[in-house]
Amino acid sequence: MTTTQETNSRTLVGLRSDVRIDERDGVLRLLSRVGSFALRGVAPEVAQALRDLVTTPQPDIGDRLPAPQARQLRQITERAKQLFVRYVEVDGRVLARIEATSRDGAYHPAVIEPDARLRLSKFALLRTLDNELVLESPLVKHRFTLVDPAAAAVVARLGGECGPADLATLLPVNAAEELAGHLVGAGFVEQGQSDGFPSDTEAVLRQWDFHDLLTHSRARSGRFDQPFGGIFPYLGDIEPRPAVKPMPDGPAIELYRPELDDVLATDPSLTAVIEARSSVRQYGEQPLTAKQLGEWLYRTARVRAVYGPTPNAPYEASTRPYPCGGASYELELYLTVQRCDGVEPGIYYYDPVGHRLVLVNNGVQDRQALLQTASVATALQADPDVLVTMTSRFQRLSWKYRAIAYSVSLKHAGVLYQTMYLVATAMGLAPCGLGSGDSDLAARAFGLDYLTESSVGDFILGSRPVLPADAPPRPLPESWKPVNDVEWAVSAHSLLRERHWASS
Ligand SMILES: Cc1cc2nc3c(=O)[nH]c(=O)nc-3n(C[C@H](O)[C@H](O)[C@H](O)COP(=O)(O)O)c2cc1C
Repeated sequence: MTTTQETNSRTLVGLRSDVRIDERDGVLRLLSRVGSFALRGVAPEVAQALRDLVTTPQPDIGDRLPAPQARQLRQITERAKQLFVRYVEVDGRVLARIEATSRDGAYHPAVIEPDARLRLSKFALLRTLDNELVLESPLVKHRFTLVDPAAAAVVARLGGECGPADLATLLPVNAAEELAGHLVGAGFVEQGQSDGFPSDTEAVLRQWDFHDLLTHSRARSGRFDQPFGGIFPYLGDIEPRPAVKPMPDGPAIELYRPELDDVLATDPSLTAVIEARSSVRQYGEQPLTAKQLGEWLYRTARVRAVYGPTPNAPYEASTRPYPCGGASYELELYLTVQRCDGVEPGIYYYDPVGHRLVLVNNGVQDRQALLQTASVATALQADPDVLVTMTSRFQRLSWKYRAIAYSVSLKHAGVLYQTMYLVATAMGLAPCGLGSGDSDLAARAFGLDYLTESSVGDFILGSRPVLPADAPPRPLPESWKPVNDVEWAVSAHSLLRERHWASS
């Protein structure tokens, strides 16, 4: 059935429901959760028009005002556009409400031709927000609230390619076109071109995964109007997670604690370590030792002290060798040991306070599954002595940060990778970070609840193959095209090789 009858379909403009108008000392302030504007010299007719717009959206705002006042009102709507809302209405019934989610959100509704081919962008997402169905997209600086089920039906139909006539089976034809004009103009819906829809054909858009772009758009401010940053959203409501994770049950192995003087006496310089650092996926005939593992963990991830709460940080924090946003230290380490002199194969939790390994799983299958996944990440080049899996106790961060908590945890994983690389290089071990891992497998094997704590990074470690003392220096790989002082890396590599990696 095509609903061809013409209806009274139109777009109204109003102010967001949370806007308050405050007039004092000749300044009119528009106050809202998403931003506030102080306006001077507002004509009385314009001030009245703004007050009316809080309660009564208008089709053509300013049309009933004399030209100068209409111009002033238009300037205000332009400047404070994030505070204005559009309503798509048919026969007095609101179909959709459209709000800007950014200060610079602006679009013109598109004109939809009868032969247009339409489809939702692959970046569009439907979800419930404040008890309403909303359409959002990381490409669009607006939120489209589907107030009426008929509008939701139109969006559902646009999940597959269709034309205005298909939409007219769901709504009167001009209402469908009005709604589609907004969806296309804002960027939720694409118009098909001769070669397909832009998100399927444009090289830049094709190379964005939906979830990556969504995370990117929400992990930085700019195009998003929801609570953001270090605002302690659950203070007084939910207890923060402790700085130190309660110890899992299991037999524990005390680890070696290095002496600072010994480390300082033998460590290569910072520059030698940075320049000689590389990913090593082959291992020595002799395995890593418990002493080396103890030293490496001590220098990388131990808790040096716990402190807090403090007036600025109303939660318990700690200090460790690597930096961490808010000193939250949400990352935990689990070691899947395959070959380590002095530590039985098994899956262990690293206790960063007691500096111990606590056995959490001695099942062969889980161990092998984790090691196999790590090896696959290296295209089967590595069969590591030890796999170190970093898990995140997510709520340590989300108790403080809104919107950015997950991305901050990934940044922490990166910081820890580099610390692990550098300490391993200084110690003459074989380090390699991994970019993929199986969080479900890890949660199962470590006995964790996926939403409370699961893996965000993996790192493999082993003994380094020992070179004969008279082995020639490593030549530059033939494929390298030197650009800036590659000799630094080559000489640092030779230095560490002579001092640490070669047999004497
Ligand atoms: C976050 C991160 C993820 C990585 N993922 C992998 C991986 O999955 N498999 C692998 O073999 N190497 C991985 N690597 C190592 C890189 O391939 C390596 O750092 C890069 O090729 C540069 O070489 P270099 O480390 O020897 O200087 C990763 C490194 C980092 C920092």
